[in-house]
Amino acid sequence: MLDVAAFGEPLGYVVDGATPRSLRFVSPRPPAIGDYVLVEAEPRPLIGLVRAVGTRSVTLSSLPGVYDPVVVERLRAEASRDDVFFECSVSIVGDAESLEMPRMPPLPGSRVYRAPPELLARLFGGEPPRRVRIGTLLARPDVAVYVDVNRMVTRHTAILAVTGAGKSNTVAVIADRLASIGGTLLVFDFHGEYVGTAIGGGVNTIPAKINPRLLSIGELMVLLGIEHRFYNQERVLRKALEIVRAKQVQRGFLEELAEAVEKIRSLERRREESTAAVAVLNKIEALAERYGDVIDDAAPDPLTRLQPGRVNVVDLSRVDEDAADVVVSHVLRKLLVERKRHKHGEKSMVPYPVLVVLEEAHILAPRDEDTLSKYWLARVAREGRKFGIGLMLVSQRPKGLDPDILSQMNNLVVLRIVEPSDQRYIQEASESLSSDLVEQLPSLNTGEAILVGPFVPAPALVKIDRYGGRLGGGDPDVVSEWARLREKAEVPPEDVYSDLL
Ligand SMILES: Nc1ncnc2c1ncn2[C@@H]1O[C@H](COP(=O)(O)OP(=O)(O)OP(=O)(O)O)[C@@H](O)[C@H]1O
Ligand SMILES: [Mg+2]
Repeated sequence: MLDVAAFGEPLGYVVDGATPRSLRFVSPRPPAIGDYVLVEAEPRPLIGLVRAVGTRSVTLSSLPGVYDPVVVERLRAEASRDDVFFECSVSIVGDAESLEMPRMPPLPGSRVYRAPPELLARLFGGEPPRRVRIGTLLARPDVAVYVDVNRMVTRHTAILAVTGAGKSNTVAVIADRLASIGGTLLVFDFHGEYVGTAIGGGVNTIPAKINPRLLSIGELMVLLGIEHRFYNQERVLRKALEIVRAKQVQRGFLEELAEAVEKIRSLERRREESTAAVAVLNKIEALAERYGDVIDDAAPDPLTRLQPGRVNVVDLSRVDEDAADVVVSHVLRKLLVERKRHKHGEKSMVPYPVLVVLEEAHILAPRDEDTLSKYWLARVAREGRKFGIGLMLVSQRPKGLDPDILSQMNNLVVLRIVEPSDQRYIQEASESLSSDLVEQLPSLNTGEAILVGPFVPAPALVKIDRYGGRLGGGDPDVVSEWARLREKAEVPPEDVYSDLL
């Protein structure tokens, strides 16, 4: 049992107006925002997170309406140092032993202490493999923060922040630590940031190649640019696919598909279908030109390249958004099938849980549009937990994310966010992010984050560890790149114009 009296001199005292969820206390020596305090209460002391600190002056508070600088200056000269005190607002996290919320508020006058480091270390610490380290408490650099791995993977996580605030670094730290405990990750990498890095002892790169024979009709339609409203084209494609699939493989898939469409066209008497067939033929030709790099008849199922216990990176840096959509939806669809198989005791290509990481999630899980991936992301967000597929969505445009999918991300790592509309949007999608925490978001520095959700024992302001290796997406040093170019240039800059003079 914690004996608060053993903590020496209190920091301050609770004032009136406390509730079971929050309190205010006055103190001559305020703790930093984001620090934790221990509050005297019955039956057990409470732990609380300091969410705001304001100043008060005894003299000025007792003389409301004194705004004249001359008067303030004179009062200042006369008032002692003790005149100024601080009023701190605290969110109650729970009782200091079980973290259960109290039923009664702490009484006015209760003593408030700085939470002892051992208590915080017990709360936020841990041991791999159940917990992995992510950083340190912002207000207590000596207290390490660990996240609960099972809860992080099964309850899904969103990493949100403005550009350059440290999202990819957070992914790298988490991926590296998870791989060190044998975790398997599948990262969809839009910018080739993780390709070739040493994360988790060296990532396994999976090229973004797709075998067209493995695609569903929906995936083919996206690649071909056939929307559902073009139902004649869809019908032609369906028929042609049936023909191709019934035959033995002889040539390239697209060639065989074009041949089948041509055959349908030649036999077709109705004008609309014949016109539709011509359109499909053109689209197949355009597809071959546009996605020649992605479509590969010899490509194995991407899941066969997945390696357990490693960070697997699908390199999407060379494909456009439509092709990325097809690759991601295809892989997620197959992953769900394989994990269901495993769960039902059947032979499976993926007999181990996987954490899927999607960078730039607002592109493939957008708010007001439908993409193929969005359907599968929503399914994984809803059902993944049961089958051992975790989702980690990363985005610099939170309000561009589908609200249903975002609300399934129970854990949040929110780094700096400046836009009030983004802040509101995240708060609406998440029950656990309170408005006082949201107020901190614009003032966070790079790598500083608010963590809320079941993967941490209590909401926390955390300085995320810096990933030790190199990532491909760091801030470029523009000035030295230009300088190097200038040194290398054979013609000195002033000579460039000499011919013109
Ligand atoms: N926790 C951290 N500690 C120290 N430096 C950090 C930390 N996180 C990020 N940085 C620095 O900030 C830079 C940008 O970080 P990062 O690439 O992770 O941002 P991002 O949010 O992923 O940006 P983008 O939106 O462009 O993808 C990095 O080059 C890194 O040096
Ligand atoms: Mg990034």
